[in-house]
Amino acid sequence: MSIINKAAAIGGGVIGAGWVARLLLNGIDVSIFDPDPEASRKVSEVMKGARRAYKQMVPGGLPKEGKLTFAKTIAEAVADADFIQESVPERLDLKHRVLAEIDIHAPANAIVGSSTSGIKPTDMQVAMKKHPERLVVGHPFNPVYLLPLVEIVGGEQTFPEAIEVAKEVYASIGMKPVVIRKEIEAFVGDRLLEAAWREALWLIKDGICTVEELDDIMRYGFGLRWAQMGMFQVYRVAGGEAGMRHFMAQFGPCLKWPWTKLMDVPEFNDELVDLIATQSDDQAHGLSIRELEKIRDDNLVAIMDALSKQNRGKGWGAGALHKDYTKQLAKLAAKKPTASKAAEKAKASKPVKKADKPKNKKKG
Ligand SMILES: NC(=O)c1ccc[n+]([C@@H]2O[C@H](COP(=O)([O-])OP(=O)(O)OC[C@H]3O[C@@H](n4cnc5c(N)ncnc54)[C@H](O)[C@@H]3O)[C@@H](O)[C@H]2O)c1
Repeated sequence: MSIINKAAAIGGGVIGAGWVARLLLNGIDVSIFDPDPEASRKVSEVMKGARRAYKQMVPGGLPKEGKLTFAKTIAEAVADADFIQESVPERLDLKHRVLAEIDIHAPANAIVGSSTSGIKPTDMQVAMKKHPERLVVGHPFNPVYLLPLVEIVGGEQTFPEAIEVAKEVYASIGMKPVVIRKEIEAFVGDRLLEAAWREALWLIKDGICTVEELDDIMRYGFGLRWAQMGMFQVYRVAGGEAGMRHFMAQFGPCLKWPWTKLMDVPEFNDELVDLIATQSDDQAHGLSIRELEKIRDDNLVAIMDALSKQNRGKGWGAGALHKDYTKQLAKLAAKKPTASKAAEKAKASKPVKKADKPKNKKKG
C-alpha cells in the first residue's frame, strides 16, 4: 500500500499527467499546478487512457481514486504534500525556478522527485536554499502509469536517507526503483536510448531502411528479447553453453570494426526532419496519437500479464512485479473505506522523518 498521504504534481504534460494517473489510481490525493490553460483537459485525457488500462489489469474493480485538485500556484499545490514530483520542461533555468519555489513552500520533510530525463540532480539542487538534501531524480518512462521503472539519482547534497525514502515511496505505487550508483547526465536508460536513436537516425538518413523497417527490425526481433531479459542476460544465452565469456570472445572484437556511426550526430536539418516525419506518417496508417496510445497500453498490459504467468507462475521480470502490483490494487479496491486511514497512519511515520534525521550526514 502506498505510504504517500498527499502528493503534488508540478507540471501536467505527458509525464506529469502520467504521474497524476498512477497516484490517483492508487487512491492518493494529488494537487497539481500547471499554468497551461489546457492542462485540465490534457490530464483528463491521460486519466481516461490510464483508467482503461487499469481496468484490464484489475478486472474485479479498481481502488477508490484519489482526489485531484488544480492549484493556482506552486505554493498552494505543495503546501501539505509529503511527496512532490516535478515534471516541467527540460530547461535548467526553469527547473531552478520551479524547484526553488517548491523548496520554499513545501513541508520541510517532503520528498521532492524530479522527472528530468538527463539533468544531474547536483545541478538542480543548487536552487534549493532550504532543503536541497531531499531532492532526488525520479526518472520515469512513458506511460508512467504503466511502465514500472523509475531511475533514482541523488546529487552531491542528497542525503542517502532521502534516496531510501524515495525508493519506498516509488515502490509503494507499484514501481521498480533502480538507484543509479554514480551521478551522470542522462543516467542509464537515456544513455542507451540516445545511442540507439543516434544510430537509427543515420540508418534512415543514409537510406539503409525506412522508419517502419527499422521499427520492424526491433519489434519482430531483439525488442522481444529485451522486454523480458534485457541486454546482458540475452547475450549470456546467445553465447551458447559456454555463456557470456564465449559471447564476448566471439563478438567483442567486432566492436572495433567500423560498423557504427555512434559518435557522429546527423545534422537535424529540414531535410532529415521531413524524411523521418513523412515516413512516420506513412507508418501510422492514419491512426491518431490517442489511438496509438491505446494500442500501446493494451500491448503493454498484455505483455506484462503474459510475463506474470511465467517462471512456474511466479512471474518473470516486469511480470513478477506486475503480479504483485495488480494484487495490491485489488486488495486496495476491496478495502475502499479504510484507504484514507491507512494513508493517515503512513503519514505519521513516513516518508519524510527519515529524510529529516541525518542533517549532518551529507553525501559526497
Ligand atoms: N516525454 C517523455 O517521454 C519523458 C520521459 C521521461 C522524463 N521526461 C521528463 O519529464 C519532464 C516533462 O516532460 P514532458 O514530456 O511531460 O513535457 P511536456 O511539455 O509534455 O509537459 C511539461 C508541462 O509543464 C508545464 N509547465 C511549464 N512551466 C511550468 C511551471 N513553471 N510550473 C508548472 N508547470 C509548468 C507545461 O505547461 C506542460 O504542461 C522533462 O524534464 C522531461 O525531460 C520526459
